Amino acid sequence: MRPRVFVTRRIPRPGLELLEEATDLRVFAEDRMPTREEIRAGLQGRHGLLSLLTDTIDGPLMDAGDLRVISNYAVGVDNIDVLAATRRGIMVTNTPVEGLRESPADHTFALILALSRRIVEGDRMVRQRGFTGWGPEVLLGTDVYGKTLGIVGAGGIGAAVATRAAGFGMQILYHSRAPKEEWDAGLGAQFVPLPQLLREADVVTLHVPLSAKTKHLIGATELQMMKEGAFLINASRGPVVDEEALVAALKAGRVAGAALDVFEHEPEVHPGLRAMSNVVLTPHTASATWETRIEMAVVAAENLLAGLRGEVPPFLVNPEVLSSQD
Ligand code: DGY
Repeated sequence: MRPRVFVTRRIPRPGLELLEEATDLRVFAEDRMPTREEIRAGLQGRHGLLSLLTDTIDGPLMDAGDLRVISNYAVGVDNIDVLAATRRGIMVTNTPVEGLRESPADHTFALILALSRRIVEGDRMVRQRGFTGWGPEVLLGTDVYGKTLGIVGAGGIGAAVATRAAGFGMQILYHSRAPKEEWDAGLGAQFVPLPQLLREADVVTLHVPLSAKTKHLIGATELQMMKEGAFLINASRGPVVDEEALVAALKAGRVAGAALDVFEHEPEVHPGLRAMSNVVLTPHTASATWETRIEMAVVAAENLLAGLRGEVPPFLVNPEVLSSQD
């Protein structure tokens, strides 16, 4: 019997084709986030679930299907109760593909440059016919060259951002659970405690996964520590930053600007952020390139198929589930 699979939203074709060849496939019919009830309905009798980072998958929802594998179409798995899955003997997989390091790093740099060179403000000015000719002090921004970038989180994306920063002639400070030899030696980066990074960096960029420990990692106290004139970039997960505190810090001029790809109550965006011209906002598109999204689709499908065949999937998040299956 072909395993039965539910995909919560259409993903790029190459991934769906792999699933079509080997499974009885059900894809949520509309191109939008399904509700909890719609996921529950879609899961009936399904052995495999391909979920997105916008789907909250907890234990009771897992029980709606006959699940053996949950393949998350993301590197982050904060939307899944992994412990609940392990207790149920369900494998959870993710997609830490190369593109999910490089594309978000490019986007992070796009945000840094958009903010420091006031690209979005300039675009608006030109469209609104506010451009009346070159002027010595029109829309002056700040250089990134020679400035200090503070990278919080030294995983794959943080490393790809560091490589770019070195190319842009920036000094690099970083903070993570432990120093990384290759960062210090290869990039001339310096491992520092978080308060020091906040005090010394001209641009602070966040690249940590969301967990109980990193929720509100950047709150009022941390924002208060930031260097005068510094920018905050967040392309990790919204709740890593206390959005209310950020709005207050921006209003008070404690933080000179922010560029955000993710939001605390996504897809809601704090009205204070939308109102400020020194804030650049993108709709969680850091990984949104055809190359990366196709790579993710293929890997998510391969993870799911391997798990359904009883093999160890290439990117298993909860290997402890294997011992519980013995
Ligand atoms: C991820 O994979 O966690 C990214 O946020 C997707 O864009």
